[in-house]
Amino acid sequence: MRAAYSPRYGAADTIEVRELPRPVPAAGELLVRVHAAAVSAADTMIRRGTPLYGRFFLGLLRPRQAIPGTGFAGVVEALGEGVTSIRTGTAVFGETTLGFAAQAEYLTIPADGVVLPKPDDVSFAEAAVACDGAVTSLCLLEDNAGLCPGERLLVNGAAGAQGVAAVQIGKRLGAHVTAVASEGNHDFVTALGADAVIDYNARDFATGGERWDVIHDTVGTRRFGDVRVALAEGGRYVSGVLSLGLLSSMLWTGRVGSRRALFSATGLKPAPELRERLERVAGMLVDGSLRLPIERQYRLTDIARAHRHIDGGHKRGNLVIDMIEALDRENQKIATRSVASEHLDAHERAGEHDMANKTPGQVARRL
Ligand SMILES: NC(=O)c1ccc[n+]([C@@H]2O[C@H](COP(=O)([O-])OP(=O)(O)OC[C@H]3O[C@@H](n4cnc5c(N)ncnc54)[C@H](OP(=O)(O)O)[C@@H]3O)[C@@H](O)[C@H]2O)c1
Repeated sequence: MRAAYSPRYGAADTIEVRELPRPVPAAGELLVRVHAAAVSAADTMIRRGTPLYGRFFLGLLRPRQAIPGTGFAGVVEALGEGVTSIRTGTAVFGETTLGFAAQAEYLTIPADGVVLPKPDDVSFAEAAVACDGAVTSLCLLEDNAGLCPGERLLVNGAAGAQGVAAVQIGKRLGAHVTAVASEGNHDFVTALGADAVIDYNARDFATGGERWDVIHDTVGTRRFGDVRVALAEGGRYVSGVLSLGLLSSMLWTGRVGSRRALFSATGLKPAPELRERLERVAGMLVDGSLRLPIERQYRLTDIARAHRHIDGGHKRGNLVIDMIEALDRENQKIATRSVASEHLDAHERAGEHDMANKTPGQVARRL
């Protein structure tokens, strides 16, 4: 099978595409033919081996698992011994967590791991990115920050994978949502439901005198100490981007004062917990209360290009590797069935983004 392969830490060009043996499902595992795999900011950090202390988990000198990727959607091709909960031919989606190896034509995953049947009305592409941004933001906002109806939420990095999900989940949880993004993304995040927008190039949200109950720093560009003044009494700063500064803030805010700094690593949560969160995200995708915009779709051979785009720091929503090079047809089918009447937004019409890589389905589903 063909797979992305990251033999050493380094720049985007260190990623290759290699022909490797197809994995064989062990007892209790599924073999999945991958149709779509997410490419995320987390993948690029793992590729770089940064921050350095991450290497204790990922491999000291080189990545322990050379095939990157965690989020996937595909079809069950074979069953390991003893698997009775699912049939071959079932479309599934999920997350390999610390097993990685999702950016390949085939992967194996425990049948009781983070894997669920894919709803018919959710495309393989959208299902593949459901874990990265949406499950992470759901966990951070609900489990860590305990966001309540009527509270004020600020999402820093609102146009990224976690950000687009955080804006919509924040609204669904009943919060008033302020989105922080560059000016060119203001229409985009407003269309996702943001009540207010702030251009981080024009104004520092932390120093304007406004207060929020929860600050979700999806991209980790603001330190707790710098934005603490913008937290209301009892406010929570939450981020999925770990740093030594955040660790120390977590320690002292757990003991002193009413404002808290919080972090959690979604991939380290137990599989049943993640499956439950993923099931809820799938429900939101089906009932239309959550959209996971896919900015670009790449062939596996263009994986380094996808990494370079993320390294640029302005990815909009999600990126996907089309493993079967046929997602266009599938997206077209879903688009025709459910959302064919939607219109392109202004950016799409202006051709500002990579339309050459965009499918008719994505166009119809509107970024
Ligand atoms: N703890 C966990 O479980 C977990 C799970 C997944 C990911 N993560 C981590 O979460 C982080 C974010 O992931 P992601 O996938 O959401 O990132 P992403 O999609 O790559 O974020 C890109 C976005 O960042 C925005 N941005 C860039 N500079 C900014 C600034 N100075 N202020 C505000 N926004 C800015 C850009 O918006 P503009 O173009 O408008 O600037 C762009 O839309 C990564 O570090 C990843 O490793 C953690």
